[in-house]
Amino acid sequence: MRIDLLAGASYNPAVMPSPVPMILVFDSGLGGLTVFSEVLRARPDARFIYAGDDAAFPYGRLSEEALTARVLSVMERLIGLYEPQLVVVACNTASTIVLPPLRKRFSVPFVGTVPAIKPAALATRTGYVTVLATPGTVARDYTRDLVETYAAGCKVNLVGSRRLAAFAEAELAGSPVPDEDLLAELRPCFMEDEGGRTDVVALGCTHYPLLLPRFQKLAPWAVTWIDPAPAIARRVIQLIGPPVPGHEADENEAIAVFTSGAGITPAYREALRNKGLPAIVVEDIPLHLG
Ligand code: DGL
Repeated sequence: MRIDLLAGASYNPAVMPSPVPMILVFDSGLGGLTVFSEVLRARPDARFIYAGDDAAFPYGRLSEEALTARVLSVMERLIGLYEPQLVVVACNTASTIVLPPLRKRFSVPFVGTVPAIKPAALATRTGYVTVLATPGTVARDYTRDLVETYAAGCKVNLVGSRRLAAFAEAELAGSPVPDEDLLAELRPCFMEDEGGRTDVVALGCTHYPLLLPRFQKLAPWAVTWIDPAPAIARRVIQLIGPPVPGHEADENEAIAVFTSGAGITPAYREALRNKGLPAIVVEDIPLHLG
C-alpha cells in the first residue's frame, strides 16, 4: 500500500470503534463522486472511503465475466482493509451485473446504482426517453428488463457512449475535451420524428453528471436530465438511518483510494479536495485480463 497524504490530512488504518458508520463508495474512477457528494450531504457525520478502481477503468469495455471477477477481487481487498458497514456501488456498469455475486460473497449491505428508467418514464411528457450509459450498461439484460417493466409505453432510446466516462475524467483532471467531441457523444440522445421528441435523458453512468453543465449548454433543445444520486442517498438513509446527533464529521477522515493512481494530476487532487477528499491512498491492484 502506498499512502500519499496531503498536507493537513491524517490517516489511521486501525479503524477505531465508532458510533458512526464507515461507508465505502466505489466506482471505476471519479464518477462515483457524484453519488459520494449526495451521500455525504445525507450523512455528514459518517466516515467515508471513496474508492476508484482506476487500474481497470473504464469498466464499460470489460466483459461481464471480467468485470464480475474484477469487482469481487477489489472488493475483497477494500472490505478487508476498511471494514465498512455499508458499501455503495456508485457505478451502473458494475451494479447491473455484480450485485448478486457481491451479496452472496460478503455480509455487508450493498446499495447499487442502476439506470433511472422508472423516474424517466414518470417524468416524460412526450414519451421519448433516452438512457445515456456505457456500452456495457445498455447491453445488460438488467437494463432491458427495467425498460420492459417500467417504460413499456415509452419510446426508449438506449445510447451507449464509448468515450464520455473518459471525457468526465479528463474534465476533472484539468484537460476538458472540446465541445465538438462532447456533442458527438450527446447527439444520438436527441430523437425527433413526427410523433414528438426526446424530453428526458436519464444519466445511466455516474461519470456523466460531472459533465452536466456542459451537456446543458450543448443540448440541441432543453430536456430534463435525471441524475440518480439523490435517490441513492435516500436509500442509504433508509438502510442506516439519519445522522447521529452530536457527531461532527472530521473532513480529514474521508479518504480517496485508487488502485493505480497513474492519472492523478494536481487538478485531479484539487477536484478531490473540493469534494471533501483531501487524502489519497494508492492501493496497487493491477488488472489482469485472462
Ligand atoms: N461510472 C461508471 C458507471 O456508472 C462507469 C464508467 C466506466 O468505467 O466505464 O457506469
